[in-house]
Amino acid sequence: MAQPTGYLRIKNIMTTVLVTGGAGYIGSHACVELLNANFDVLVLDNFCNSKATSIKRVEKITGKSITLIEGDVRDKATLTMLFSDHQIDAVMHFAGLKAVSDSVNNPLAYYDNNVMGSITLLEVMSEFSVNNIVFSSSATVYGFSDDKPIPETAPLSPFNPYGHNKRMVEQVLADISIAEPSWNIASLRYFNPVGAHPSGEIGEDPNGVPNNLMPYVSQVAVGKRERLSVFGNDYPTIDGTGVRDYIHVVDLALGHVAALNKLMQGCGLLTLNLGAGRGYSVLELVQAFEASTEQKIPYEIVNRRAGDIAIYFADASLAKQVLGWKTTKTLEDICRDAWRWQTKNPNGY
Ligand code: NAD
Ligand code: UD1
Repeated sequence: MAQPTGYLRIKNIMTTVLVTGGAGYIGSHACVELLNANFDVLVLDNFCNSKATSIKRVEKITGKSITLIEGDVRDKATLTMLFSDHQIDAVMHFAGLKAVSDSVNNPLAYYDNNVMGSITLLEVMSEFSVNNIVFSSSATVYGFSDDKPIPETAPLSPFNPYGHNKRMVEQVLADISIAEPSWNIASLRYFNPVGAHPSGEIGEDPNGVPNNLMPYVSQVAVGKRERLSVFGNDYPTIDGTGVRDYIHVVDLALGHVAALNKLMQGCGLLTLNLGAGRGYSVLELVQAFEASTEQKIPYEIVNRRAGDIAIYFADASLAKQVLGWKTTKTLEDICRDAWRWQTKNPNGY
């Protein structure tokens, strides 16, 4: 059912969004952009990888308030109460575990949290006839893709439990959309989300030693780590180091709002890459960070990391065509904003 443009902006028609995992890195940035776009926001989070402070910061940035519920997305009773107590129009589902190596060591925890959690949520949504959902998928579903850039039509071949979780939930959603055409679903495949809100109030707060490049670079810059280990310089790339599609987390959050607007127009199933559509090497990122922050990043070249891919970047044209969305922030913006967050919050939240 097509709706006129601007439909979503009309208060009290379709405005309340449940954000699962809203206290986390991407969810908190999505909350900012939802509030900026005049949606009402409820957050459900069990704080297994976040703190309630992030929500306070979102409220500070936007000057608006969020209803925060501490609870687990696998807990049907909590969800049922939440959907009974609130008129929810759509869900953004970020809640999940995301560490690839952890998923290899603890597959059951990952299937339980990421797959069972999603199924429980979908069951309750179905019971309450809430049929609009944006799901956090990942470019990791493509596995070792030969496509450069990678379109949504590329074969899916995840190779770790985390990737399997994302693919399975995408499949569940696709099956629901066939059985129940009234559902509107966006599975968004993120490339490499990085950076922080320009206010420096919210950002990525990894536990322990960061696995990912950008938070590691930031921690080297602030003096928490001695030097960056660059995992291999013998890939077939511009300088031998791995190439990735780094997307500013604010651009990513805006992509979610664009997807939600599309859902509310009655779009059925959408599966979209969210990336910048261009790749940078590890050393290009290091140079950009040094140039935009005037910090030196000592590094050494070490062996390749097992499971790494040489070049991975999105064909981002479908999201542009379908949502009218594309990234606007540069690698310099990413580095500057990551650095502002790091210096304002050297120990995280
Ligand atoms: P995050 O860990 O910062 O946020 C996830 C949030 O979900 C946390 O606040 C955590 O406490 C909460 N949570 C986890 N399990 C829960 C449960 N069972 N019930 C309620 N809350 C729960 O991670 P993020 O980087 O913000 O990622 C958000 C989503 O995006 C995840 O689904 C992740 O797999 C996906 N994703 C992330 C990346 C990335 O690089 N960050 C890339 C692709 C996809
Ligand atoms: C990793 C995950 C991927 C997940 C993504 C989320 C693995 C194998 N892959 O992807 O499933 O969706 O995070 O953002 O864990 N690098 C260094 N030194 C470091 C850290 C990274 O040189 O200390 C290099 C890597 O080799 C890679 C690039 O930096 O070339 C980016 O790495 P990272 O940030 O970990 O992201 P991905 O490997 O793309």
